[in-house]
Amino acid sequence: MARNKRISFLAELTKGYDRVLDIGTDHGLVLQKAFEKGYIKEAIATDLREKPLQQAKNNLKNYPATYILSDGFLAVKVPFDLAIIAGMGAYLIADIMDHAPEGNQTYILQANEKTEILREYLLNHGFKIIDEYVVHDRFYYVVLKVVRGLMVLNEEDLYLGPILKNKPESIEYYARKAHQIEKILPGADPERQIELGKMLKIYKNL
Ligand SMILES: C[S@@+](CC[C@H](N)C(=O)[O-])C[C@H]1O[C@@H](n2cnc3c(N)ncnc32)[C@H](O)[C@@H]1O
Repeated sequence: MARNKRISFLAELTKGYDRVLDIGTDHGLVLQKAFEKGYIKEAIATDLREKPLQQAKNNLKNYPATYILSDGFLAVKVPFDLAIIAGMGAYLIADIMDHAPEGNQTYILQANEKTEILREYLLNHGFKIIDEYVVHDRFYYVVLKVVRGLMVLNEEDLYLGPILKNKPESIEYYARKAHQIEKILPGADPERQIELGKMLKIYKNL
């Protein structure tokens, strides 16, 4: 049940995009929800592994979806309007984005942690964040909406998010991040403590 809020939120972000590509689709749940709600007309479901892709095929059998076994974008040769890369680590999403096609597609990115790493990657690789959201079910999930383009971010923006920091729902999320840091800080090695101390100040707006 808890995962449903994140899945539903990601599905909602597909509204207005006809051809949606889901990279690392796993069971195809985001696409299934997007079809059920009538948000999308066509989907391309991809995964690195055969087994999850088969599960997506079962869940999407009543919908106009195509399936591609692919490492990120590598085997994706079809056009799309929106790509979703969600539920993975920030470094893996960054690696996948390295092979994103040139063009005016939109990307929905959701790293399970270290969103600051993903923002830094986007900043340095010609991507621009056009919206940010935080979803809370059991955990807090940060979702980025991204296009190709330029942006300017300072260090605070990498952690807080250039758009998220102006949204009221971020307050609870930052408080949670600060609380998590305060718990692990005393046991961290000295070098990490310096890093965590800096992050704590940013999340507490000190
Ligand atoms: C934790 S699941 C996330 C599923 C779904 N995207 C979500 O947000 O709930 C991660 C999926 O990504 C797939 N995956 C991992 N690395 C990948 C890659 N390089 N290219 C495509 N899929 C990948 C895995 O096989 C797995 O099915």
